[in-house]
Amino acid sequence: ANDPRPLVAGNWKMNGLRGSISELEAIIADAQARPWPVDLMICPPATLVCAFAKAAAGAKIAIGAQDCHAEVSGAFTGDISAEMLKDAGASAVIVGHSERRTYHGETDDMVKAKAKAANRAGLTAIVCIGETYEEREAGATISRIERQLAGSLPETIDAVKLVIAYEPVWAIGTGLTPTPKDVEQVHQTIRKHLVSLDKSSGPTVRILYGGSVKPSNAKELMAVPNVNGALVGGASLTAKDFLGIAAAY
Ligand code: G3P
Repeated sequence: ANDPRPLVAGNWKMNGLRGSISELEAIIADAQARPWPVDLMICPPATLVCAFAKAAAGAKIAIGAQDCHAEVSGAFTGDISAEMLKDAGASAVIVGHSERRTYHGETDDMVKAKAKAANRAGLTAIVCIGETYEEREAGATISRIERQLAGSLPETIDAVKLVIAYEPVWAIGTGLTPTPKDVEQVHQTIRKHLVSLDKSSGPTVRILYGGSVKPSNAKELMAVPNVNGALVGGASLTAKDFLGIAAAY
């Protein structure tokens, strides 16, 4: 009963053109039509944040971004600060997604700096962590998760400004998912860590599961203790699948 209100967030990754706003509009229409027991969020590519935030103004859906730079402004060609995302209408930003860690060499230190930048700008930081297939096979999942938590989170945590997303790297875009028992073990580890950081906020920080979530497996995954929602990639690109996942609640 004291569980935090779940969050179902869609990470569109590098997908979506201006015309894709029709999917957002379909989600908004549905979100307005009935009471949802979950918070909804779409994180489009940076090019669409402004238009999406405008379309979602006053609606029951938040708009987030997918990455930010740690600095406020300056000579960082191609980068976007958390303050700019806030100015564009975002209320949250994903940091440390495994694709950023892999393709852009982002370390725990960098992710932590980005999470702090998000909070500085007044954005919720959605901090992603997760083990690789090799780490899972080697029995190193929990130690990997603990190391990422120790290195990637801001020193002060707050349930409004922080969301954790557990995304096993091997489950992203592959159709593979861990067993509910495996998910439970990791989420429990994350919860313990959060509570050790802050006794009052730790229990209510939302911990999302991400990796091949779809309408057909959402109910089972969302029922796992300490799973407080989902971070959805591929299945968030259509209103139908995204809402099908939110309907697990
Ligand atoms: O951030 C969400 C993502 O990495 C999961 O992607 O396509 O497996 O749902 P997907």
